[in-house]
Amino acid sequence: MPSLTDTIVEVLPNKAALIDRAYQVTVAAIETAIAQRDRATLALSGGSTPRPLYELLAKADLPWEKIYVFWGDERYVPQDDPKSNARMTREAWLNQVPIPTENVFPVPTSADDPAADAAKYEETLKTFFQTQPGEFPALDFVLQGMGDDGHTASLFPHTEALDVRDRLVTVGNHEGEPRITFTVPLINQGRKVVFLVAGENKQDAIAHVFSTAADGHDYPSKLIEPANGEHWLLDAAAGQGLPKPFNPNDL
Ligand code: 6PG
Repeated sequence: MPSLTDTIVEVLPNKAALIDRAYQVTVAAIETAIAQRDRATLALSGGSTPRPLYELLAKADLPWEKIYVFWGDERYVPQDDPKSNARMTREAWLNQVPIPTENVFPVPTSADDPAADAAKYEETLKTFFQTQPGEFPALDFVLQGMGDDGHTASLFPHTEALDVRDRLVTVGNHEGEPRITFTVPLINQGRKVVFLVAGENKQDAIAHVFSTAADGHDYPSKLIEPANGEHWLLDAAAGQGLPKPFNPNDL
């Protein structure tokens, strides 16, 4: 759950300002990673909120050959399906920039077996990061959205995926529909974990996620507790759900 000490909360006046700020934070994280490790590894989220951010990033002047893209979750559909997060990201961003094909790691969804594809994506991550057994790799920038039920990635309330601690990737479940998702421990390894949340419909979930009383199984975004804290970027509509001590506009 967000803590008062190592969580950054920014509330922007409107969606456009939120996306502009998210762009600044994203580019800064990429540039920092490249300065420190000569590469930047990203885990992207899907849904509708990040699309305008991706469209802005398509105009960025960055060393694309040093940037590596993964997805924190994916719907279990073909990669050309309109519901695919990878398709949305490619259309909005990756198809517009000279990022090498071998730097982009879409989630496999063609085995007709979500568990097998989750295991395959896990192997892709382990190979890329050369992890030791039991090790969770640290991605440089992990972008999370949040649903109005408090889910993040494809970690939905009261699902088995919430309690998976021994794997990097698992099968999520959204109303009976399988998803492939990073697990809580993998997201929590992120060097920079950013939540990008907009809209009045997210107020209630924000209030619960930032409250000590709520349970992470009811509001899974509460389970995200990276060692370096999270960076929340909210528009004013979603930010109205913040309890007093967290809302920067109440200080
Ligand atoms: C997905 C996302 C998901 C998303 C939230 C918020 O696959 O849909 O990864 O976790 O971030 O559902 O979605 P919106 O941004 O559309 O509100």
